[in-house]
Amino acid sequence: ITAPITPAAGQDVADNFAFAFDIDGVLVRGGQPIPEAIEAMKVLNGENEWGVRVPYIFLTNGGGKFETERCQDLSKQLEIDVSPGQFICGHTPMREFADHYGTVLVIGGEGEKCRDVAESYGFKDVITPGDILRANAHTAPFRKLTEIEHNNARDLLARGGTLSDIVVEAVFVFADSRDWASDLQIILDIAQSKGGRLETRSETFDEGPPIYFSHGDVLWSAAHEHARLGMGALRKIVETVFEDTSGGRKLTTHAFGKPQVSTFEFATRLLQQWRATQHGLVESEPPATVYFVGDTPESDIRGTNAMNETTENEWYSILVKTGVYQAGTVPKYTPRKLVDTVLDAVHHGIRREM
Ligand code: G3P
Ligand code: MG
Repeated sequence: ITAPITPAAGQDVADNFAFAFDIDGVLVRGGQPIPEAIEAMKVLNGENEWGVRVPYIFLTNGGGKFETERCQDLSKQLEIDVSPGQFICGHTPMREFADHYGTVLVIGGEGEKCRDVAESYGFKDVITPGDILRANAHTAPFRKLTEIEHNNARDLLARGGTLSDIVVEAVFVFADSRDWASDLQIILDIAQSKGGRLETRSETFDEGPPIYFSHGDVLWSAAHEHARLGMGALRKIVETVFEDTSGGRKLTTHAFGKPQVSTFEFATRLLQQWRATQHGLVESEPPATVYFVGDTPESDIRGTNAMNETTENEWYSILVKTGVYQAGTVPKYTPRKLVDTVLDAVHHGIRREM
């Protein structure tokens, strides 16, 4: 324990351990806070018997909004101030690809929000399914754009020419699709095109551009009592239907987010910076233990356990029963600790340290 630099805090700061939290199914469900989450944040912010403040960050596979907007939502839900400096969502690492590609197709989210997010990341030429549907309504026979959607879509033919003048260099699925049928059609069209050129069809089915998903979660925890289908399910459908319609050729797509170790490494860097800027700790001295609290064994526990094997510091996985994992079943990836709620997870970590 070292003295804090923030005079307002007036409390000690834990310098040898920290927490990282998954969001859906751990802190929030269907936009509503899980009640124990609010209490858990208070405990981390010093309301514990030792009066110690514990640094923490958030690492969600979700997305579809600017990071700043999502932090505002979380601040209200959890009754604390959440800063973008302690927050990573599924598409955050995609910003590192902005300079790699010219024209990209961005899928998912409400309206054209993900186009705005992609442009804020530095992507220079972003097209969306709405743009393609506006230019050629036959692309998805049963999908009719509303007037608002039509007006919000870019006019890809405004400068003359045809759709086949446009070459998509990469596809980024930023957030969950709001219309799986038309998005599936459009992703497949590009995967089967001649080098990403719209409205073309490859003869060899091996020249489509790369396809990136912000995560691979097949299930996630929303308001419904049972887990809901996520982006990973769409990914599996894309790959399966591609193979079925491309003479058996396999399509390899890529996923960011948890359980990728690179995502946890990204989180490690963020946590180090956050501990330094917010709590005055030395950036080059990582905490001995990071407790990761998640609800999905396949992403949260798998990734945390993999991280534990690749770094000298301890990554300690805690699985809760408030989300995707169903109490009484055997999780596919074994956590270090299984607890009921995030509040139990926080108590467990702190007691293990103090
Ligand atoms: O779409 C969101 C979801 O797949 C998972 O979010 O917070 O549980 O990583 P989270
Ligand atoms: Mg979750």
